[in-house]
Amino acid sequence: MTTHRTYASNLATNDVHPYRSGAWRPQRSEHTTRSMHIDGTVPRELNGVYLRNTENPLFESIGRYHPFDGDGMVHMMSFCDGEVEYRNRFVQTDGLRAEIDAGAALWAGLAEPPSRSLRDGKCARGRMKDSSSTDIVVHAGVALSSFYQCGDLYRLDPRTLADLGKESWGGKFPTAGVSAHTKVDERTGELLFFNYQTTAPYLHYGVVSSQCELVHYVPIELPGARLPHDMAFTPNYSVLNDCPLFWDADLIERGIYATRYHRDMPMRIGIIPRYGASGDIRWFECRPTFVLHWINAWEEGDDVVVTDTSKMTRRPAWQAMRPSRPRCSAFSTCIR
Ligand SMILES: [Fe+2]
Repeated sequence: MTTHRTYASNLATNDVHPYRSGAWRPQRSEHTTRSMHIDGTVPRELNGVYLRNTENPLFESIGRYHPFDGDGMVHMMSFCDGEVEYRNRFVQTDGLRAEIDAGAALWAGLAEPPSRSLRDGKCARGRMKDSSSTDIVVHAGVALSSFYQCGDLYRLDPRTLADLGKESWGGKFPTAGVSAHTKVDERTGELLFFNYQTTAPYLHYGVVSSQCELVHYVPIELPGARLPHDMAFTPNYSVLNDCPLFWDADLIERGIYATRYHRDMPMRIGIIPRYGASGDIRWFECRPTFVLHWINAWEEGDDVVVTDTSKMTRRPAWQAMRPSRPRCSAFSTCIR
């Protein structure tokens, strides 16, 4: 095993925080290894990489630590002609570099008010570090890590995890950032995305070509600030959502981000043609719920069918998260 780099950390080596101990204990070192125990034989036909993004803190938090606060660390298993290689690398975000320079946390996390942060931030929640730790997909041969509160997309070589800098889309990258759970249409090579804000129109939707050109970007007007986490798509449509769980609008003005679930409000699903204008979106109401992740979407004649992870989301998020720590991952096609 080769150690690529070991980072300084001010976390206690005997840290007993429930989200920084046991299986959750953060990694301080980046490794590369082909030495591992394999039961059986890896099929030679299996060629590609498995990428997994995680939260991996380096520094003691400002106030309470939330498991979504850690810095992005990508783990990679590559498969090539029966050989397997593992690598892990931090996502080299602006926030990580600033905190390394400071030797301490500069931003408060999800469990604390943003006013406790020592630096500003451009995420939807404001004054928050863009950890780029939520999701990772491969678009146009480059791995893109992303953050659920909207931020930059950080580019990594999917085979080596080398830092390739931030995505710019030819200078047209949205100032409001991009939410996690961008979608890649393997049929066309396009990347579909959304972002959300606390000011009108509250939501945007966009399409990036297989050549990394931002070819479509439209505002989607919502009744107020929402917390969309995922989107879905079919060959002809994109699926956005307006769930009745969102920040209390009055408290946002005071810098407090408190989520409220409105049982008296319908859930709304928005269907927009892939290159539709703002006014082309059609909203469909259904019983109130909150959808964290969509599983799939497809077309059946004139119908668009979407499925979600409702079995998980009926439970409080922390219950769904703690036992198995589900993460957002991507399995890319062969990159050789
Ligand atoms: Fe997610």
